[in-house]
Amino acid sequence: MCGIVGYCGLRPAAPILLEGLRRLEYRGYDSSGISVGNDGKLTVIKKMGKIKNLKSHVPEDLPGTFGIGHTRWATHGEVNDENAHPHSDASGKLTIVHNGIIENYIPLKEKLMAEGVEFKSETDSEVIVHLMASLYDGDLEKAVKETVTHLEGTYGLVCVHADEPGRLVGARNGSPLVIGVGDGEMFLASDVTAMIAYTKQVVYCEDGEVVSLTAREFRTTDLKDREIEKKVDKVAWDLSEVEKAGYSTYMEKEISEQAESIHRAMRGRISTENASGILGGLNLSNQELRRVKRVRILSAGTSYYAAMTAAYMLESMARIPATAEFASEVRYANPVVEPETLFFVISQSGETADTLFAMRELKRKGATVLGVCNAVGSTIARESDGGVYIHAGPEIAVASTKAFTSTLTVFYLFSLYMARMRDMAFHNGKAMVEALELIPGKVNEILARKDELQAMAKKYLYAKNFLFLGRGINYPLALEGALKLKEISYVHAEGTSSAEMKHGPIALISEEFPTMMIIPNDSLREKNISNLKELKARKGPVLVIATEGDTEIADIADDVFYIPKTMDILTPLLTAIPLQVFAYYMALGLNRNVDQPRNLAKSVTVE
Ligand code: F6R
Repeated sequence: MCGIVGYCGLRPAAPILLEGLRRLEYRGYDSSGISVGNDGKLTVIKKMGKIKNLKSHVPEDLPGTFGIGHTRWATHGEVNDENAHPHSDASGKLTIVHNGIIENYIPLKEKLMAEGVEFKSETDSEVIVHLMASLYDGDLEKAVKETVTHLEGTYGLVCVHADEPGRLVGARNGSPLVIGVGDGEMFLASDVTAMIAYTKQVVYCEDGEVVSLTAREFRTTDLKDREIEKKVDKVAWDLSEVEKAGYSTYMEKEISEQAESIHRAMRGRISTENASGILGGLNLSNQELRRVKRVRILSAGTSYYAAMTAAYMLESMARIPATAEFASEVRYANPVVEPETLFFVISQSGETADTLFAMRELKRKGATVLGVCNAVGSTIARESDGGVYIHAGPEIAVASTKAFTSTLTVFYLFSLYMARMRDMAFHNGKAMVEALELIPGKVNEILARKDELQAMAKKYLYAKNFLFLGRGINYPLALEGALKLKEISYVHAEGTSSAEMKHGPIALISEEFPTMMIIPNDSLREKNISNLKELKARKGPVLVIATEGDTEIADIADDVFYIPKTMDILTPLLTAIPLQVFAYYMALGLNRNVDQPRNLAKSVTVE
C-alpha cells in the first residue's frame, strides 16, 4: 500500500528518496513521485508505473538536500501521473505526500473550489495541500496542525515548503510514520525499510502527533503544541534481511527460510522442565489466564487463516472455546466484551487498518487484547495490552508465507501453555514439545524436495480453477492454499472443508477442474479418502498432500506429495509448505510477478 519517505540532511536528496521508494516497492503501488527542494523552489516529478520509470525522469544531478517521496496504491482516482503524489498547491511552493483516506474530502473540495482553487487530480489527498496553503502564514508546522483539525479519516502526512528549506513536517492519524535519526541527517517514512540502509535509530510516531525535522533535530508535539518526549529505538534487524540474498524472488527466500523462522518463533519459549510454553510479554498472570473462558482471534487474510488454525489448537489442546473472526466485521458489529473473554489480534505488519481499528474498538469497550505481530514497534504491537512477536524477520513478498508458519508456532506454544495450566498431563505436554522441536528439520526435508512440486505445478498450468480441500485443523490450510494460489498466480481458487464439498462445490468438478486435497494420516484420513473417491468418481484430477508411507492414496489420486510424519495437531506446520511452494511454481510457470502481484499491497492501511 502507499509508502512515504522524506529526507533532510547534507546529501543530495533525490537518490536517497528514490532508494527509499525502491525499498518500499514491496508494499504494492501503482505510481510514485518525489519533490525535492532547492534554492527557494520545489521540483516535483511523478509518474505512473514502476520506480524505474520515475527514476528515468529524475535528472542524476537534481540539486536539493531535502524532499519527500511517495508510492501510491490507488484508492480515489485512477492510476495516472496527475493522481500520483506529491501534490502541490497553486504556487508550487508547498508539496505533501499522504497515506490513508480523507473521508470528508468532498465537502472540503467543494469549499475550496468555491474559493477559486483549481484541482489537478481526482484524489482525496489533494484537498490537504490546498487547505494547508490557505492556512500557511510562514510556519509550516502551524499550518499542518491547523489543517489536520479539519480532516476526518486517516493520514500519515509529510510536507515540505520551499520557503522553509531543510524542514520536513509530518503528522499521523491511523497511518504509520517513523522518524529515522541519522548522523547529521533525518528521515521520515511510513516504514523502517525505507531508511534502514542509512540508520537504525528510529522514533515511532503516535496518532495525534506532529513532527518537525531538520538535519540535526526533531521536535514532536501534539495538536495543542505541547512537546512530547520521544524514545529513540534501535531496529534489531539489518539491511541484509531485506535483500534477496541470492534467491530470485523474496517469496522464494521467505518460503526457504521457514525452518529457521519457525525455530526462531520457538527459541527461548519452551520449558522442558514444565513441558510447556514460556511467553513473556502477555502481561497476564497465570491466575488471570486460568479465568479465561473464551478466546476470540481477530485478523485479516492469511493472518485470519492462522487465526482459524489457532482457534482449533486452543479448543482441542486447552479445551477453551475459541473463534477466529474477520477484524473488519467485528469492528462494526458492536462486539460484546465479557471479562472472561481474551481477545487476540494477529497482524504480520502490525499496521492493517481493519485489525488495528477493531482492536481499538475492543479496547474502548474494556477488552484485554493481545497482539501477535511480526513488525517490531508496529502500531498494533505498541497499542495492544501485551502479546508476542513471531520474530519471522522482515517479510517483503506481498504474499505472506513465513509469517503464517511462525504465527502458528506461537499459538502452539500459547495453547500448550494454556493446556498445561488446565487439563493437559505432563507426558502429553512433553510429547508435544518434542514433536515441535523436530518441525524445523521436517520443514527442510520438504523444501529439499521442492522440484517435485515444481513438476506437479507444471502439469496443472492449464487449470483456470482450483479447489482446495482439508478437514479439521487442515481445513484453514485449504483456505490458505487457495488464497496463496489465487493471489500470486491469478488462477481462480477456492477452499472449503472436504466434508462440505458434497454440499455444493462438487458441482464444479470436471476433468478440467483440479482439486488439491490435504490428507495427512490423522483421525480424519478415512473420511478424507471417501471425499477423494467422490472426486475421482466425477473424473476430477486430484493432487494430494499425504503423510509419507501412505501408498493407498497414491493408487487413487493423480499426484501425491508426501510430508514427514508428525503429531496430528502439528500437521499444518508441514502442510503449509507444499501449498506455498505449489502456488509459487504455478505463478512462476504463468510468468506472474510473484513478489508484487497485481492490485495487492503488503500492508493494507486503509479500510
Ligand atoms: C496474503 C496476505 C494478506 C495479509 C493480510 C493481513 O498472502 O499477505 O492476506 O495476510 O492483508 O496482513 P497483516 O497480517 O499484516 O495484518
